[in-house]
Amino acid sequence: MYVQLNAAIVDPDAANRQELATFLSGFGINVVAQYAQTEQVAGALGRVDSPQLVIINLDPAPAETLKRLGQLPRQHPGTSFFVLSQTLDPNVLMEAMHMGVREFIPVPIQEQKFSASIERIASQHGMGKKARIVHVIPTIGGCGSTTVSCNVAASLAQAGSKTVLADLDLVRGGAASYFDVRPRYTIADVMASAEKVDKQLLDNALCVHRTSQLSILARPELPEDTQRVTQAGLQRLLNVVGRMYDWVVLDSVMSIDPVYSAALQAADLNLIVMQLNVPSCRNAERFVGAMRRMGIDASKIKIVVNRFVKKGGDIEPDEVEKALGMKISWLIPNDFKNAIAAINFGEPVVLRSPRSEMSVSLQQLANSLLPADAVRKAA
Ligand SMILES: Nc1ncnc2c1ncn2[C@@H]1O[C@H](COP(=O)(O)OP(=O)(O)OP(=O)(O)O)[C@@H](O)[C@H]1O
Ligand SMILES: [Mg+2]
Repeated sequence: MYVQLNAAIVDPDAANRQELATFLSGFGINVVAQYAQTEQVAGALGRVDSPQLVIINLDPAPAETLKRLGQLPRQHPGTSFFVLSQTLDPNVLMEAMHMGVREFIPVPIQEQKFSASIERIASQHGMGKKARIVHVIPTIGGCGSTTVSCNVAASLAQAGSKTVLADLDLVRGGAASYFDVRPRYTIADVMASAEKVDKQLLDNALCVHRTSQLSILARPELPEDTQRVTQAGLQRLLNVVGRMYDWVVLDSVMSIDPVYSAALQAADLNLIVMQLNVPSCRNAERFVGAMRRMGIDASKIKIVVNRFVKKGGDIEPDEVEKALGMKISWLIPNDFKNAIAAINFGEPVVLRSPRSEMSVSLQQLANSLLPADAVRKAA
């Protein structure tokens, strides 16, 4: 089973074809054939392994190129045809639609619109994105973001949702050791754009934690290998795992570098983990500001306070809320004994001591992420 859409592309210019293939790989699309001439596409169609998508650059002569496409879209209803052009000629557009072309994509391509078109095609082929992506971001070292991501992921997996936890703390990350698993392959191994990300490759790279059935994609063993993790690679990975899982949890770092901007933008929920002290609060404020400027919707940002103690914290929750201009979504109690025992034992606290106050809070946090109808069903 492949989890990527296959596409054939047509463009008279070889460099353009390569650029388009790279661009498409960022959307989880695998280019299986490249042609210079429209007529050549016929050879890839009408077979069991026909691509689900054909993308044709109509330029430099849109009307003529379109004519050469002829009856192909009508003859192959199982394949969707997209055409690209820099010129928006209404006659060409109408003609394309009459011929059965699914989408007319103006160049330069608007990524968001293009992504929506790809999602429509993917769901039509039973490969639609279904996962919700939860991106967990620390505000200072040791604030407990890995504890939050591991426990939320384990709770979701244990509740029966197909869940993957990926470690984006690429140099220092410890998600795999929180579960005491030693993966053979890591996130760096599923980045190469020449590589087809299919189920088999992912099955090799993902460790499954036996007790919870959580899949784990670890950080690379060698710090040098973190250089292989790229923005395009991450986008492609998220597209692919997004079609295989119900939940993708990312244990991340506080950064807006390209890889992390991609994670921030792709996430359905960005959980900012903080403690009630001044440095953490200040960083949370700075980062929430940056996310707002990046255009991330406020509904996709949630503040989680970890290691909460009712009395004796440095600052009060309402002071934090005032500084951030938003509500705290969750408070996780301080429980050093259980937290550290879980790490030393290599099993998240929700699995190891599920009845502790800290575990109940983390499980409820995971529950609060579920859509209301799923929670009702589980109750
Ligand atoms: N609710 C909690 N109560 C007490 N201790 C906690 C709690 N959550 C986490 N800890 C402890 O805090 C330490 C750091 O936790 P964790 O590794 O989850 O933080 P982090 O933000 O991911 O850190 P890093 O900066 O290393 O990525 C660990 O020793 C953990 O046991
Ligand atoms: Mg961490």
